[in-house]
Amino acid sequence: MKIVRILVIDDDAVACEFLQEALLRAGYEVDTFTSAREALDVELSRYDMLLSDIRMPDIDGLQFLRQVHEKWPQLPFILMTAFGSLETTMEALRFGAWDYISKPFSPEAIRAMVQKVLEVREFQEHWIKGQPEDQQEPQFIGSSAVMVDFYKQIARVADASASVLISGESGTGKELTARSLHQLSARRGKPFLAINCGAIPETLLESELFGYEKGAFTGAGHMHTGLLEAAQDGTIFLDEITEMSPGLQGKLLRFMQNGEVRRIGGYEARHVGVRVVAAANRDIDEEAMAGRFRSDLLYRFVVRLQVPPFRTHKEDLPQLIESFLKKWGYPTVRISHEAMELFMTYDWPGNVRELENVLRQTLLLSPFTVILPENLPEKLRPPRTAGASVLSPLETAERQQILQALEITTWNQSRAAQRLGIDRKTLRTKIQRYGLAKEAPSLLFSKK
Ligand SMILES: Nc1ncnc2c1ncn2[C@@H]1O[C@H](COP(=O)(O)OP(=O)(O)OP(=O)(O)O)[C@@H](O)[C@H]1O
Ligand SMILES: [Mg+2]
Repeated sequence: MKIVRILVIDDDAVACEFLQEALLRAGYEVDTFTSAREALDVELSRYDMLLSDIRMPDIDGLQFLRQVHEKWPQLPFILMTAFGSLETTMEALRFGAWDYISKPFSPEAIRAMVQKVLEVREFQEHWIKGQPEDQQEPQFIGSSAVMVDFYKQIARVADASASVLISGESGTGKELTARSLHQLSARRGKPFLAINCGAIPETLLESELFGYEKGAFTGAGHMHTGLLEAAQDGTIFLDEITEMSPGLQGKLLRFMQNGEVRRIGGYEARHVGVRVVAAANRDIDEEAMAGRFRSDLLYRFVVRLQVPPFRTHKEDLPQLIESFLKKWGYPTVRISHEAMELFMTYDWPGNVRELENVLRQTLLLSPFTVILPENLPEKLRPPRTAGASVLSPLETAERQQILQALEITTWNQSRAAQRLGIDRKTLRTKIQRYGLAKEAPSLLFSKK
């Protein structure tokens, strides 16, 4: 087993001893320093994680964190805060701390924290293993309890060949989940092919999936290999599977039963070893109950994964923001306290994808390196009243519902109205009344 090395920094020697004892017992190797300055002279890359006090006489913990993070951005940095001050903690998370633990804590609590960090690390390392830096697959960010639990679920089922059905709200990371299932399985290195069942007409979807023989229909001038065949030994990702027509659902069911593909217009059945992973945005059980989705097909999916909505793990915001900023080449941009608070209070109906869009838009529109509340889109700021009156709780809820429907349908007003069960004219009136506005030109920020 790999040895895990932990560095502890605390000006209080007794605290150091306590931590050393607690962590040695769990089988970790532990070094301690009572001075942060001393620690800065050490090659820190040989450690797997760093636990640091926040109030120290020589350098304060935040400053220390910034210096460490600059030199060793990958090193997990856990802060030990004496007074659970949210301010300092948020600040620390913004500067790249992985997590924090409030003092005093029990040996069990610190061991659980270390264990959690190691699990996230392991998941992320697996994920990027062997990939050149510039073409790394997108990966999950976040070390909240909710997400760590979800990573565990992914890891647990990744290696089985069982078909997986991923459900979750729009923008939560369903595709990311499908890709990580593939990356963590023995199929890594084999094709991962994705197709959106809601985006193409039925006949085209069928020929894309199953392929066709030359002359199978008018216009079939040559043989075409379908995705199921092309994904041999790999994974096929069927996005928005609820949008598949009943006829095609039947064909897919047959494929999942016997693993055989017959091209359209062909006789020969070929066996292909492909793992099927599907995603559904709508409530698929409800679709099945209503007879719009075949329940026998639904039961072919032995494993179900439910991606948590973003509002249930908002602690991951600082890490997510940092990683997006870095990825897009804005490593020096910072989010002000007030702006961060707005990020934290907003409900994110469009989940992580919405966060991505909001950040993109904010970066494009604000010329400064510190993001202030006024740079953020209207919807993140407390609801403005149209007249002089303040919105009632009921109105606030309605406004939120409308905004959510608009976001989900990428501001397609007729589809949003349909979701809300009102007509377009009423919707338009309400949009005006609540001063809702699409925040960005759709070409720049529309999904995909
Ligand atoms: N935990 C996360 N860490 C990092 N990035 C994430 C996370 N969750 C989602 N994302 C990013 O958010 C965006 C949306 O994710 P993804 O496309 O996987 O969601 P989805 O559930 O398939 O959305 P949709 O229903 O809109 O198709 C992607 O750019 C993805 O990389
Ligand atoms: Mg998707």
